[in-house]
Parts: sequence; structure tokens; C-alpha cells
Amino acid sequence: MNERKRVFKLNDYLLKTYKLTKYYSEEKRISFFSLGPGKSLVRAVDNINLFVHRNEVLGLVGESGCGKSTLGKTIIRLEEPTSGKIFFEDQDITNLSQERLKSHRKKMQIIFQDPASSLNPRKTVFEIISQPLKVHGMVSNKSDTSDRVADLLKKVGLEKSHMERYPHQFSGGQKQRICIARAIALEPIFLVADEVVSALDVSIQAQILNLLVILKNDLNLSILFISHDLSVVRQISDRVAVMYLGKIVEVAPSENLFSSPLHPYTQALMSAIPVPDVEIGWNPIILQGDTPSPSQRPQGCFFHPRCSKMIDICDKEDISLNAVSQGHFVACHLYSGRSTLKKIIQAQRTWL
Ligand SMILES: Nc1ncnc2c1ncn2[C@@H]1O[C@H](COP(=O)(O)OP(=O)(O)OP(=O)(O)O)[C@@H](O)[C@H]1O
Ligand SMILES: [Mg+2]
Repeated sequence: MNERKRVFKLNDYLLKTYKLTKYYSEEKRISFFSLGPGKSLVRAVDNINLFVHRNEVLGLVGESGCGKSTLGKTIIRLEEPTSGKIFFEDQDITNLSQERLKSHRKKMQIIFQDPASSLNPRKTVFEIISQPLKVHGMVSNKSDTSDRVADLLKKVGLEKSHMERYPHQFSGGQKQRICIARAIALEPIFLVADEVVSALDVSIQAQILNLLVILKNDLNLSILFISHDLSVVRQISDRVAVMYLGKIVEVAPSENLFSSPLHPYTQALMSAIPVPDVEIGWNPIILQGDTPSPSQRPQGCFFHPRCSKMIDICDKEDISLNAVSQGHFVACHLYSGRSTLKKIIQAQRTWL
């Protein structure tokens, strides 16, 4: 579906984050042991360094609650970062005022996780799609607006006549197309697509993914494609980042990640993808225990309580991303220090 072997120049990025962090404060529950209520910090996004190239799809995967949506929203400043930096087209947009952010907003759009709740049930499709066009002064009169909305509907595979209907008069797949039309209305160059196909059945998923690829090529878009479904991410992404408890634990070109995942968490996620061929056999790695809360993360590497490959250092020291090969980064003690290359080759052999 996509050109997998694309080579990106290292500095040809559209968006880059530096130590991007988003914490929420949450009221602590009063328990028998606590003396009273207080605040605890939910570390939804923690110290993330990430970049997205021009015209690239970067997949972002991880379990529910690991911070994917928060990262997507913080990157485009729908959520205010707690600390860190966001660079977009070489400009630091971290602290831009809402007024100055307006021109960037046009270029950075989001398709929200739940299409049903992100479409106002009291507005027609025409009103929904034309609203951003009007706010940004991109249309001059009613007939111009109507032409533009019809054109956008056509781009996403809907009919001109659909513009007079209300959201409840559409199927799930059609609703998602409306959300996509609204997201591309301002001709963005960067799109956060948050779980855009998760609620759809497989054949509709394929149609929506195809549509995104066509739009990406036609409009020269870069996409942060968020999903918890690795097989969907595989179909569309040039590179993939794996997130666990607010941190990126592995990033690699799609091919590398799927052929030789290195982080034990990535390996567990990969092994959970069902294998269609019964002869090959399917042995998913079952992770022990639940995902820890982002407000009470374990000491050392956050993954160590669930990791079957834990070594001495893992419960003592945290670890950040290290390059293991061109474009492949992993945050795991197994691949740091001496004889790293040997360990990588060994991990690849056992995986294959
Ligand atoms: N506005 C908020 N206030 C407080 N906590 C929040 C807020 N938004 C998200 N969180 C918390 O931040 C953490 C990450 O949430 P987020 O929605 O980013 O996860 P996710 O990876 O997108 O999950 P899912 O796959 O279920 O969509 C969760 O613990 C969540 O409860
Ligand atoms: Mg989410």
C-alpha cells in the first residue's frame, strides 16, 4: 500500500519534539492508608523526542492509556505541554500565543478518536465542514462555500447531496469520511489521525486506509497515525513508534520493526498479531500483570515488572532511546553497554 523503502533525509523533518512532556494533576482517592486527599501526577507524556518527516506516515502504537492521544493533541497544541519543545517547519511553536498559532493551526489538523462524538449532531454536514473554512476566511460567499464543501465531500468519496444531512444519517465509515473532509478542509500539511479505523469493520477499515494514503499523496501530507492495532499500523506507516506508559520505547522504519522488533514490549505486541496460517502456529507472548498507572510508575525501566527478559539493572535504572542501527532506536538495557551488537543479532535470530 505504501512505498516502504522510502529514504528520508535526517534533517528533512516537518515536526520535531524535544523532551515533550504533558502531566495532568489528578485528585488522589482517599484510602484507608492515606491521611487525606491530595494531588497526584498523571505522567501521560514524558520527555518525548520524536520527529515526523515531510510526506511521511509515522505510526504510533501502544496499549490503552499509554498516552497516544495526549501526545497527538499536545504536538498540535490542543493540549498545552507541561515542558519541552515543539518545532513545526523549523519554528518553535511551543509558546506561540493563540493568535500567532492560528496560521499554524490551519496546517496541523486532527481526526479525533471517536467520529460519532466529534460531529455535532445538531449541525448538517455542510455546517460542520464549512465552519473551519469560514473561521479562517477561506471562502467568500455561500456559493463558493457550497462548491468547496462539495469538492471536499467528493475527495473523501461522499456525494454532494450528503451536505444537507445530519451525522446520525450516516454509517460509521461515512462519519469517518466526514471527519476526514473537515480535517483536510484547511489544506493542512500535518494530520494527527487518532484511531481513525478502530471502530470500523475490516472492509471499511481498508477503504478508509486507502483514502488516507491517496490524500497523503495528493495533498503531500505527513500523518501521525495513532492506533493500538499493529496490523493496521503496518499497512500504512513508513516508520513506527511504540509507546509504553508515556514514553517511546522503540522507533524504527516499519520494515525493521515488523521483521526484527527488539524491545520485549514490542515483541509482545507483535506476537499478539494473529497468524492466518494454522501451519505456522501462533504463540503470543502473554504479558504478566496489568499496565501500571501513569501516576504510579515503577522504578527503573517502567516495563520491568512485566518483562520476561529482565536483568539486574532493569529495576534500578531508567533508560532512554539508543540507536541500534540506522533509524532504529530502542530504550532497553538489553541493548546498551558492551556486546550490544551480539545481543541484537541474537534477539533478531530468536525472533525470526
Ligand atoms: N484531560 C485529562 N485529565 C487527566 N488525565 C488525563 C486527561 N487526558 C488523558 N488523561 C490520562 O492520561 C493517560 C493517557 O491517556 P490517553 O488518552 O492519551 O491514552 P491513549 O493511549 O490514547 O489510550 P486509548 O488507546 O484508550 O485511546 C491516561 O491515564 C488518562 O487517564
Ligand atoms: Mg487515545
